[in-house]
Amino acid sequence: MSKKVFWGIIIGIIVFATLAATRSAWMNIDNLTFLRSYIKKVNILPEEKNLTFEKSCSACHTLYAPGLLPARSWKVMMSGLSNHFGDNAEMEAKNRDEVSAYLQRNAADVVENIYSEQLLLSIKPDESPLRFTDTSYFKLLHDIVHPDMVIGNPDVKSIARCDVCHKETLEGRYNRFAVQIPNYYKEGVWKKGVARPYTEGENTGAVQGSEQRE
Ligand code: HEC
Ligand code: HEC
Repeated sequence: MSKKVFWGIIIGIIVFATLAATRSAWMNIDNLTFLRSYIKKVNILPEEKNLTFEKSCSACHTLYAPGLLPARSWKVMMSGLSNHFGDNAEMEAKNRDEVSAYLQRNAADVVENIYSEQLLLSIKPDESPLRFTDTSYFKLLHDIVHPDMVIGNPDVKSIARCDVCHKETLEGRYNRFAVQIPNYYKEGVWKKGVARPYTEGENTGAVQGSEQRE
């Protein structure tokens, strides 16, 4: 065996052993402080506000941010409000046009934030999804959310009720470190049990634990 190969193997073993020994630190993204402070700041809401939109589109569900769908999707949705997911959400033509224009002006393909950008990457240019929750990006983000936590959970029922789990939905933030799922708590993974009370700015379950250990 040449000297080069010998030292190559020794260095390889040292690097591997170091990574293995510190595995729990770098495998757990909850420990990455820079990621946490970055995500805390991501905000999907546009600067432009619109009262007509806020009033008419929050009557039946939480107010969805315009940046959750591309302009072409909003256009399709706003031209078919009489059958809106089985409901009649029709409104005065003047208001409808105002809201439609507002949504398209602030849609995912216009505003700049990481959620809208990732969403756009996950849908084909010729697709106009009407549900953010149907996109592969949303499904990827929520793959740890089991149907039992949603459909089988009397306090959630629908994954479209963002505000139930993301308490800062109306402020435009979906920080994964501040998620609260009713009747579940997080201890490494989500477990069935009494949810911990939510306090502003506080992180949940495992995150708290790992901070205490530091
Ligand atoms: C009459 C009640 C009603 C009104 C008013 C209404 N919606 Fe809805 N909307 C619904 C229902 C019901 C659903 C399906 C919810 C579910 O699956 O849990 C829905 C779903 C949605 C979704 C899909 C959410 C997802 O990703 O799964 C979007 C987007 C949406 N509405 C936007 C709007 C906008 C924009 C307005 C205002 C123009 C509006 N809604 C007004 C009843 C309403
Ligand atoms: C049943 C609870 C629940 C509901 C309802 C829910 N989410 Fe989530 N969401 C989660 C969980 C849990 C995560 C974190 C996943 C993880 O840690 O990998 C998450 C993560 C996210 C993220 C990524 C956050 C980050 O830190 O980057 C976004 C964006 C998001 N959700 C948007 C939404 C939107 C928009 C809706 C409504 C259409 C919604 N969620 C409904 C539980 C929920």
